[in-house]
Amino acid sequence: MRIFLDTANIEQIRQSVAWGVVSGVTTNPTLVAIEGRHDYKAVIREICGIVDGPVSAEVTAEGVDEMLKQASDIASWHKNVAVKIPCTPDGFEVTSKLAKEGVNVNMTLCFSANQALLAAIAGAAYVSPFVGRLDDAGHDGMALVKDIMDIYKEYDFDTELIAASIRHPLHCVAAAKAGADIATVPFKVLEQMMKHPFTDAGQARFIADWRKVSGK
Ligand code: E4P
Repeated sequence: MRIFLDTANIEQIRQSVAWGVVSGVTTNPTLVAIEGRHDYKAVIREICGIVDGPVSAEVTAEGVDEMLKQASDIASWHKNVAVKIPCTPDGFEVTSKLAKEGVNVNMTLCFSANQALLAAIAGAAYVSPFVGRLDDAGHDGMALVKDIMDIYKEYDFDTELIAASIRHPLHCVAAAKAGADIATVPFKVLEQMMKHPFTDAGQARFIADWRKVSGK
């Protein structure tokens, strides 16, 4: 499973890429707003200059024609951009048209196996089931990831599953066990995945003991 970072924070992206564990980025309008940025194009281009992999940028227009216009513009920002399109009836139409033009689409706001099935049929490069938001509503978000993976394997679809709306490290373990292609994680979760108190305690002890024997 690959790890993408779910953020529009440039420093977090730089750090994660330096760690060598992140191979893509997903953004959405909320994440860009959190950073206080209004220049979506500039943000996406900056991110594309840091990470050598897919960078998802979301369409905010409504109606098929406007969505198609905005999606084509977004796709022209950088060769690595994947255009995020919602799992709505208009979204499926837009996705199938963009896919025929060779545009990489990440179908977002996916909350059901049927939406994921249609995303694959429409030719989306990625589908993003929102695990945490389903859990928040009392559903089993990871069960959806498993169902989608079963369906995609059964029919050999090329669409890659991005486990999204990840809230904690156990979500990542479960997504990996379910065979998700990618998990897109907030920076805090990435740090939690890396750290363990036993590692810190063990390392502190090794350093202290080595100081004693080496006299340094
Ligand atoms: C995915 O592409 C979305 O940006 C993201 O995972 C949404 O997560 P949230 O439910 O924490 O907003």
